[in-house]
Amino acid sequence: MITRRIALKTLALGTGAFALAGSGVSAQAPAPAVEGVFKLPPLGYDYDALEPFIDAETMKLHHDKHHAAYVAKLNDAIAKAPGWEKKTVEEILAHLLDAPKEVQTALQNQGGGHANHSLFWQTLKKDEKGAPGGELAKAIDATFGGLDKFKELFATAGMSVFGSGWAWLTLSGKKLVIESTPNQDSPYLSGALPVLGMDVWEHAYYLKYQNRRADYVKAFQSVINWDFVSARYAELLKQA
Ligand SMILES: [Fe+2]
Repeated sequence: MITRRIALKTLALGTGAFALAGSGVSAQAPAPAVEGVFKLPPLGYDYDALEPFIDAETMKLHHDKHHAAYVAKLNDAIAKAPGWEKKTVEEILAHLLDAPKEVQTALQNQGGGHANHSLFWQTLKKDEKGAPGGELAKAIDATFGGLDKFKELFATAGMSVFGSGWAWLTLSGKKLVIESTPNQDSPYLSGALPVLGMDVWEHAYYLKYQNRRADYVKAFQSVINWDFVSARYAELLKQA
């Protein structure tokens, strides 16, 4: 337990550095202020940075309204769990069953929403020719038989989510796994470490793609910030 806690703290600190190093954009949309212990992180780039794959209006609503709401409700829940405000959101999710019972569901949903989206923004960048590098490239080749096959399997995972949820590339032990979770469930809940997540809630794509999730899933593959994801994988691997 102690090892995992330390690891998660290190990871939480590390993601900020990745955001600066990996975003590759300078103009930043300011994050609306959310009162409470947990804050809405800035998007890190302009709302229209992912056009035409993900439209500016979707990004603005998704970040400024949906993510902000998860943070606000997480703050409401954490106020009812004395001492838990000192933990990172990743620690909260990894140790959810130790939290006061009456707030576990709220922490799972709102904490998951905060953690999932905080990672999501950092993994996006318009880079159609981007590809995994370093250890991640090797692991994707070894595990899935190459990047094209990975993309196919990842898309299938996204299409297979019934209703709202996420497709994930996770590190489970030292193994790369493609999985999915319902609602805002985080891989941290089951002890896996999220490397890359694809939000397949309708709020992530409905304005532009309406019911065509397959088109969004395809577009998503053109806005993966593989430099960030590869660096994150290398960091997670040290802690797995
Ligand atoms: Fe979302």
